[in-house]
Amino acid sequence: MIPLELIEQAKSAQVVTVLTGAGISAESGVPTFRGENGLWKKFRPQELANFDAFMRNPELVWEWYNYRRKIIEQISPNPGHFALVEMESYFPQFNLITQNVDGLHQRAGSRNVVELHGNIGRNRCVKCNRISTENLSLNGQKVPTCECGGLLRPDVVWFGELLPEDAIQKAFQASKSCDFFFSIGTSAVVYPAASLPEIAKQNGAFVVEINLEPTPITSFADISIRGKSGIVLPQIVKALT
Ligand code: OAD
Repeated sequence: MIPLELIEQAKSAQVVTVLTGAGISAESGVPTFRGENGLWKKFRPQELANFDAFMRNPELVWEWYNYRRKIIEQISPNPGHFALVEMESYFPQFNLITQNVDGLHQRAGSRNVVELHGNIGRNRCVKCNRISTENLSLNGQKVPTCECGGLLRPDVVWFGELLPEDAIQKAFQASKSCDFFFSIGTSAVVYPAASLPEIAKQNGAFVVEINLEPTPITSFADISIRGKSGIVLPQIVKALT
């Protein structure tokens, strides 16, 4: 059941900002990072998601990203992604910020998506930074290279790396200026993304969290809904329209 207060607040909202995390893609079949079945239970992030690890063993890192790319290729956006597409045309101003690299928001039809952690569908040269959107894989055991000879790496943000400047500026601005903020399917432990709901709250936004379990956001959210985003979000859209 969606609280009436949520619907009333949303109906009068002019600027709505949404932050999504791995949880919104979980119902599509993309594994989350933390929790019992999370990727970081089975794989060690320090061996797979940082630059030094890549330079030490680029083949292993490529295998890991190709494994994740294969999963993403085979699955589809879920009703949670589609509900956010509907919200984009419902609200006067709508900002969608995601920590996900799976591109499922865009595949669902969301037009304006701020990707804080990059996109797994792209590669970038470690030497000249050229972006490649070709569907590449290991050639035998060899890591693909750029025209300049540099190794290609996935265009995602690894531990210890800075977020894309343009994306984080847009995210801060969208969080500061909104009057309604949704935090959806994120454990809210990875910064700076995790600071966005708090920034929104400090600037007077009504903050709603949708998650299966409590997170650091729960303590200051105006409403926390325990449930699957693929079920809760369509219910919210239905109540709004
Ligand atoms: P996490 O795996 O840390 O958290 C996923 C959250 O989604 C958890 O709080 C779950 O309870 C919740 N969840 C799972 N299924 C859900 C569902 N169906 N509906 C609603 N909520 C659900 O993922 P993130 O918070 O996205 O960074 O992780 C943040 C960053 O940590 C990722 O972007 C990644 C990772 O290391 C990089 O790769 C840079």
